[in-house]
Amino acid sequence: MSQETLLDSSKERLVKPENPVRNVGTPPAYFSCWGLQAYYGESYIVQDVSFNIHEGEIIALLGRNGAGKTSTLRTIARMADPELHHGEIWLDHKPLHRMKDFEAAQNGVGLVPEDRRIIPGLTVEENLQLAQIHGPRGWEIERLYEHFPRLAERRNQEGVTMSGGEQQMLAVARALARDVKLLLLDEPYEGLAPVIVREIEKILEEIKTLGLTTIIVEQNAIAALHLADRALILDMGQVVFDGTAQEVLDNEALRQEYLAI
Ligand SMILES: Nc1ncnc2c1ncn2[C@@H]1O[C@H](COP(=O)(O)OP(=O)(O)OP(=O)(O)O)[C@@H](O)[C@H]1O
Ligand SMILES: [Mg+2]
Repeated sequence: MSQETLLDSSKERLVKPENPVRNVGTPPAYFSCWGLQAYYGESYIVQDVSFNIHEGEIIALLGRNGAGKTSTLRTIARMADPELHHGEIWLDHKPLHRMKDFEAAQNGVGLVPEDRRIIPGLTVEENLQLAQIHGPRGWEIERLYEHFPRLAERRNQEGVTMSGGEQQMLAVARALARDVKLLLLDEPYEGLAPVIVREIEKILEEIKTLGLTTIIVEQNAIAALHLADRALILDMGQVVFDGTAQEVLDNEALRQEYLAI
């Protein structure tokens, strides 16, 4: 298919999203980011990213390797790297762009990073307790165990000695142990066997029914699209598509162009 046809067939979807923050007179979305520009040193990586999320929506944030997905999540979570030079980030009326990472976490951002960051030397339960120390608290530990029975079985085991899938469950449970308003999942299925992926998908589907606002980044785009309501596609640090998950599933040209699937 020629480039022209490809762009034609997905013309409407390649329109940039509207400025979410500066729409005077419309109620603010639960989450919005506007004009995000973030840098690693001199490298300009997140290039003017804007989007809105409604409360309870699940967004699949997709794009090829190096498209800027992790960097976008890290920017929203207010990690020191990449450094935000321009733009605004609002969550439930709070200006995240004025905060540091720990303040963003206290205000409801729950980042589950790709490498999971389970704390060595601590049991499963201690990892969960530690998450609750700084508050505000989210789910009680017994409630977490109801949703993550494997963690209940292993509550006294050192977290880092568990399998990759179990550590992923612990990383998600730890985010829920705090009062999370926006869950950011970076490649939750990465490196896991299909049967474990299925188990984590089931947990995420349960969380979905509870109405938790979520952004999921996944190489396994089809799995993420089945979970998500909406999809955003990034390419070279810019949003090139903002539409429903179903539209991406239905648009083969778009998937081939930006996701290579
Ligand atoms: N710490 C860093 N310092 C400098 N450049 C970085 C750093 N981390 C990422 N980059 C660059 O930023 C760009 C976006 O990377 P990022 O990790 O956000 O992409 P991604 O979409 O998450 O990719 P992947 O699918 O491989 O995880 C890439 O060009 C990458 O090389
Ligand atoms: Mg990444």
